[in-house]
Amino acid sequence: MPRKIIIDTDPGQDDAVAILLALASPAELEVLSVVTVAGNVPLAHTSVNGRKIVELAGRPDIPVYAGCERPMRRHLITAEHVHGKTGLDGPELPEPTIPLQAQHGVDYLVDTIRASEPGEITLCTLGPLTNVAMALIKAPEIAPKIREIVMMGGAYFEVGNITPAAEFNTYVDAEAADVVLRSGVPVTMAPLDVTHRALCNDIRLERIRALGNKAGNAVAAMLGFSERFDLKKYGWDGAPLHDPCVIAWLLWPEIFVHRKINVTMEISSPLTYGMTVADWWHVTDRPHNVTFLRDLDSDLFYERLTARLATLP
Ligand code: RIB
Ligand code: CA
Repeated sequence: MPRKIIIDTDPGQDDAVAILLALASPAELEVLSVVTVAGNVPLAHTSVNGRKIVELAGRPDIPVYAGCERPMRRHLITAEHVHGKTGLDGPELPEPTIPLQAQHGVDYLVDTIRASEPGEITLCTLGPLTNVAMALIKAPEIAPKIREIVMMGGAYFEVGNITPAAEFNTYVDAEAADVVLRSGVPVTMAPLDVTHRALCNDIRLERIRALGNKAGNAVAAMLGFSERFDLKKYGWDGAPLHDPCVIAWLLWPEIFVHRKINVTMEISSPLTYGMTVADWWHVTDRPHNVTFLRDLDSDLFYERLTARLATLP
C-alpha cells in the first residue's frame, strides 16, 4: 500500500525536484495534494509553480491548494536571489492549465487530516511551516492523527544559510517551526547538515540532463539556474539539493545517518532568531522530538533520484 503524503511547498527549483521524485514513485507514495506557501517567492508565484510542476509530471489530477501568503508573525522574507523572480527560473514551462483549488490550504489540511484514519497521512514540508502550524493551531485535535512530519529545514553543525545561525525555512517563520516541533507529532528533520552532503556536481547534473525526457531537461535547467548562487557562495563542486532529501527519507531511509534528539527553536533573540538548537549529545532532558538526519550516501541518493526521474514523461 503506497504511503499517503501531502506536500507543503514553496517552489523553488529544489522543491520541484522533490515533487517530481514523489510523483515518480507511485509504488511507495500516493501524493494526495500539493499545498503552497509563501517562502522562496510570494504565494502567487509558488501557487503557479506548484501547478506547473504537477503538469510537468503528467499529473494534472493532483489538486493544488494555496495556503498562507505570509508568516505567522513577521513580514515575509523571500529568496529571489537564489530562485529567480518567478521562483522557478531556468526552464521554459507552459502556464498551468489546472485551476487552484478554491479551499484555503490550511482549511484543506485541517479537513483532510480530521477525516483521515490515525497514522494515515504524512506531511512533507519543503518550505516555511506556516500552513502546518496554522492548521495545528486551528485544530489541535489533528496532531495525533498525523503519522509523521518530514521537513526540510533547520541547521546545526552546518550553521545557517540565510543568517549565520538560521536556515531559510525555519528563519522565515520560526514561530511556525516552534509550533510544529512542540506539537508532539513525530518529526523527521532534513537540515542543512544532511542536504549539504547531497551536492549536485557536474557529473550528477549531466546524468540528469542526459535522460532526454521532459522532466530531466526541466530539472537540469532548474538546477543549472539555482546552483549559481550556492556555487559562488560555497565554492564547492556542486550545489546542495535540499528538498528531495525529504522524499528520499520516505523512499530509502537506509541511505541516511540519523539520531533521535531534541531540537528547540530560537524565536526571540534578534541575533539567532530561527536557529534550530539541536541537543545532539543529549546534554539536556528535553524530549527527543526529532529524528535528525545527519548524513546520507549521496551516490545512492543521486543514482536512485536520477533513475526515478527517468520514469517521468
Ligand atoms: O534552505 C533551503 C530551503 O529554503 C529549501 O527548501 C529551499 O527551497 C528554500 O525554501
Ligand atoms: Ca523549499
